[in-house]
Amino acid sequence: MLACPNCGLALAAADRALRCGSGHGFDLARQGYVSLLTGTATRFTGDTADMLLARSDFHARGHFAPVAAAVATAAAPPGGNGVLLEIGAGNGYFLGAALDAAPETRGIALDIAKPAVRRAARAHPRAAAVLADVWRGLPLRPAVLDTVLTVFAPRNPAEVARVLAPEGRFVVATPTERHLGELIGPLGLVRVDPGKERKLAAALTADFSALGTELVEYPMALTRDDAALLVHMGPSAFHAGEDTAARLAALPDLLAVTASVRIGTYAPRRAA
Ligand SMILES: C[S@@+](CC[C@H](N)C(=O)[O-])C[C@H]1O[C@@H](n2cnc3c(N)ncnc32)[C@H](O)[C@@H]1O
Ligand SMILES: [Zn+2]
Repeated sequence: MLACPNCGLALAAADRALRCGSGHGFDLARQGYVSLLTGTATRFTGDTADMLLARSDFHARGHFAPVAAAVATAAAPPGGNGVLLEIGAGNGYFLGAALDAAPETRGIALDIAKPAVRRAARAHPRAAAVLADVWRGLPLRPAVLDTVLTVFAPRNPAEVARVLAPEGRFVVATPTERHLGELIGPLGLVRVDPGKERKLAAALTADFSALGTELVEYPMALTRDDAALLVHMGPSAFHAGEDTAARLAALPDLLAVTASVRIGTYAPRRAA
């Protein structure tokens, strides 16, 4: 179901590479992913190795496990078997949780960052990892996927609609304004745009109809060390200034921080 990024023909596996009928070839990297990124370097560089390391450490502590469980339930293909793509999959934590919950399902982790797909390639035995830029189009054949998932990541609605089967589902998890709210002021984190939900609805409406949303909200008990990982794994890592260490040191040993994530499920509108 993967498509050649040059000509759109189906790719077939051959000798540690993927090849299309026109002769374009893409080698499997030693670390287990395939790069379907073509052309010149993109301005969307994605997350860094340090961010991925912080993210994996934070996930391993289980603070987002309730979010992962809800995402897994929402993303499970209806028949229990099928193919699930996560866009901007990072280390593949949420895709892995979704695949654990759906034993007949196979997964594809797509990300623009090499450190991400290296980790995602090892996230789950039923997951493949693809290096690609969602804004350049998804390297997939039309109507082949049962579920597309994005968690805290960019999405390209028209492309998602193209690659989803008619009965497929698009599952979008986004932070609400309350997510990590207790840390935003003290640590100078990037604030969630209060208009985010409205903008998401507007961006999806041409291609999708909303089936429902679920709010996952709970208090996390975070240590100062947990908070440091959150700073370094997220968008604030790009802005972390010299005062970040001082701000972290000023936090109490243990603090209650809200996790607040909205999970929306959408169905593709049928082409008229
Ligand atoms: C905030 S992280 C979320 C990762 C993962 N879903 C999670 O929650 O752990 C956003 C991810 O989107 C990826 N990303 C950013 N721009 C992208 C693009 N244009 N195409 C594909 N992935 C992209 C980043 O590299 C990063 O891994
Ligand atoms: Zn080709």
